[in-house]
Amino acid sequence: MEKAYLTGNLAPVPDEIDAYDLPVEGALPPELTGRYFRNGPNPRPGEDPGHWFGGHGMLHGIRLRDGRAEWYRNRWVKTKAFTDGADLVGEKGVDLAATQANTSVIRHDGRIFALIEVGLPYEMTPELDTVGPVDFQGKLATAMTAHPKQDPITGELHFFGYGFFPPFLTYHRLSAGGELVETKEIEVPGATMMHDFAITENYLVWLDLPVTFDLERGAGMPYAFDEGYGARIGLTPRAGGVTRWFDVDPCYAFHVGNAWEDAEGRVVLTAARYTPKVFADLWEHISGRADAARHAAGTVSASLYSWTLDPATGKVSEEPLDDRDVEFPTLNEQRLGLGSRYLYTVGDRQIVKYDHQSGAASALATGGATGEAVFVPAEGARAEDKGWLLSIVTSGEASRLLVADARDLSEVASVRLPRRVPAGFHGSWLED
Ligand SMILES: [Fe+2]
Repeated sequence: MEKAYLTGNLAPVPDEIDAYDLPVEGALPPELTGRYFRNGPNPRPGEDPGHWFGGHGMLHGIRLRDGRAEWYRNRWVKTKAFTDGADLVGEKGVDLAATQANTSVIRHDGRIFALIEVGLPYEMTPELDTVGPVDFQGKLATAMTAHPKQDPITGELHFFGYGFFPPFLTYHRLSAGGELVETKEIEVPGATMMHDFAITENYLVWLDLPVTFDLERGAGMPYAFDEGYGARIGLTPRAGGVTRWFDVDPCYAFHVGNAWEDAEGRVVLTAARYTPKVFADLWEHISGRADAARHAAGTVSASLYSWTLDPATGKVSEEPLDDRDVEFPTLNEQRLGLGSRYLYTVGDRQIVKYDHQSGAASALATGGATGEAVFVPAEGARAEDKGWLLSIVTSGEASRLLVADARDLSEVASVRLPRRVPAGFHGSWLED
């Protein structure tokens, strides 16, 4: 049986290449001057990491300047696991530098980091060379999530690390200047795969969901849906104080859409949510245990959902917002934690835009497997959705960088890439 994560659009590419002056269809907005970087797993030729999530990280970079696409290049993230074959969990315990760093790529205080949730960030250069692991002057002693949240008002970077062993969850805060200024443990009952979280003006929002870690499930990726764990969403006051937990229906969510406080002081959280059954199916598929043909590569099966948590009464209500299969929610990050009207997601061969105010959804058919659509605000924009969406779209062996107008989802430009870019996880636009 062919492993799903080594075939089709998940199949890795064998090498690192550079290409210059890429062909562009349409007109690239000249103000899109910067770099689009995207991370994803890419095992070396002949390697089988045993799970989609286990492949070495590879960054794909596209340099745009003044309406031209100057270059494409792809580079593995040269972690200790890549260069030395070091193991994350060895006889001497956990080595937080021995990871794949394959999940996302961000910039904070001018430094570029490749991230994975089980280890330290790896600093990268704008040319995609690996600098090395970062522990912020020895202050970061846990892993770092691949989904930190930058407060759009203060510029601080909020994040967490989870552990296989206690402490299971630790919160951290980096100043806008890149200094680790706060670390504290958040008590949770066990080790789970906590992939994302949220912030609001006054709270940190935790997803303590029943995909638990248990070494007795064997090597590789020993997680499984465990309904006995229960499911909770937690609110920790950012100013300090106890975490309040709200029991919710068992589910899983890799990705938060956004969170904010409404006029009544309740916290609203949106996420791409999996039912237990759908999560179990997905996990079999990306673990290579299910027949690859059962799902087309890139198929996603979460749907947009919302929870409303009332700290005054302790009550929670939850409801689906839509029934489309979507994943990888993105937004105008100037609205992160503050309330947002629009959310962008990707589904089967399309980008789907949600308007929470009108309740409407609109879609752009892309004609191919569609990667996360990163929102780039237009210069000086006032309207929340004035800007562009950047997404890598792949049909067969052909990949392109699609640039769409986020307001009406019209296609603005398409950059032809010199090779197929395998389906991966998260990207960032790094403006010059
Ligand atoms: Fe993610």
